[in-house]
Amino acid sequence: MNSHAPLQNRNILLGVTGGIAAYKSAELLRLLRKRGATVRVVMTQSAQQFMGPLTFQALSGHQVYTSLFESELGDGMGHIELARWADLLIVAPATADFMARHCHGRADDLLVAICRATDASQMVAPAMNQQMWLDAATQQNVAQLQQQGIRLVGPNQGSQACGESGPGRMVEPEQLVEAVEAQFESGLLQGEHLLITAGPTREPLDPVRFLTNRSSGKMGFAIARAAVDAGAKVTLIAGPVALETPTHVHRVDVEQAEEMADAVTSHLADATLFIATAAVADYRPAEVAGEKIKKGATELQLKLVRNRDILAEVAAQPNPPFTVGFAAETERLRDFAQKKRQQKQIDLIAANRVGQPGTGFDADENTLSLFWEGGEKNLEQTSKQQLARQLITVIAERMDEKSRAEDS
Ligand code: CTP
Repeated sequence: MNSHAPLQNRNILLGVTGGIAAYKSAELLRLLRKRGATVRVVMTQSAQQFMGPLTFQALSGHQVYTSLFESELGDGMGHIELARWADLLIVAPATADFMARHCHGRADDLLVAICRATDASQMVAPAMNQQMWLDAATQQNVAQLQQQGIRLVGPNQGSQACGESGPGRMVEPEQLVEAVEAQFESGLLQGEHLLITAGPTREPLDPVRFLTNRSSGKMGFAIARAAVDAGAKVTLIAGPVALETPTHVHRVDVEQAEEMADAVTSHLADATLFIATAAVADYRPAEVAGEKIKKGATELQLKLVRNRDILAEVAAQPNPPFTVGFAAETERLRDFAQKKRQQKQIDLIAANRVGQPGTGFDADENTLSLFWEGGEKNLEQTSKQQLARQLITVIAERMDEKSRAEDS
């Protein structure tokens, strides 16, 4: 990560929909590449009425993707691969029709299907006739997109291709590039070093068996990614998970709780923020059998011993980083979470209710209730990536508040 080149090596997916401003997207593409980004382009059918895919192909150096089905051909990037590949999706120009289809969850062309399938931040640069922009339904759709966490850039006021004047002009490419840069360099955690644990741990019983839990690591990985986007240096200590390392994240893989504790200790020195999302096993088998345990008697007693509490150890350091813990509770969320926060002496706790379908362990969506000394905030159910961004915003505010309190 380089604060002076926020677009260096970033994967940007540029969606082009059918408006006269599509010609400006060619310039946008050129500018994004000039700043070091890798850009791939998705065009809707109507976009191709205004611009030929060849222009974008030549400027991006990649095949242009135009159909939900044909996209499986060529370089093999289907809509899911493209959705995963992107660090950011920007749709410019975005027509009224595209926004309507996006906000209502349609997935019947390549671009909206990618919008559904991606975790990346999304930006939309509307361009349309001023009357269409001011139309009540369009405005409702815009509000809904914003509610879904999608960032709108523009439109600007001015004279329009249709001869009218008013709001609806697409923001100029230079300004769009600045908005994209700002998105990557929101700077909330600029200069901070995040150390974060994620995933489950595995506590071996014998050479073939272990005790573990349902944690997928998704929340921790989403936070690591959001922290990089907010300008932090990130070290991720990961238990065994099936997830790709987010760009610019330094990842250290571990298996057992004690290994995780050691890895945290050895990376703690320059951490200014510690977030414990890992579902660390509280206990491990007292003895690990050297050979596979054979079945025999009708009962088998397992003796377990306590593991170190990584979060509590970090918080108890003489000069601890800002510490954030997670709490998974099935009942009395506020009481248990606050108690945990006070017991472990941590700055902020993020609690979620587990045991409900669709959220929590291994789900793609979650809700979080955040508690700190003298305050709390609920983050409504949304994707873990959106939630991670909102959490980072609250953490940055609390870190700011804490350092101001310490200075005064
Ligand atoms: N944690 C940790 N090291 C451990 C255990 C937990 O760092 N050995 C961290 C987790 O990453 C999480 C928080 O502590 O941030 C969870 O607290 P914990 O008291 O372990 O929660 P539960 O296991 O749910 O506790 P309880 O069974 O008491 O509810």
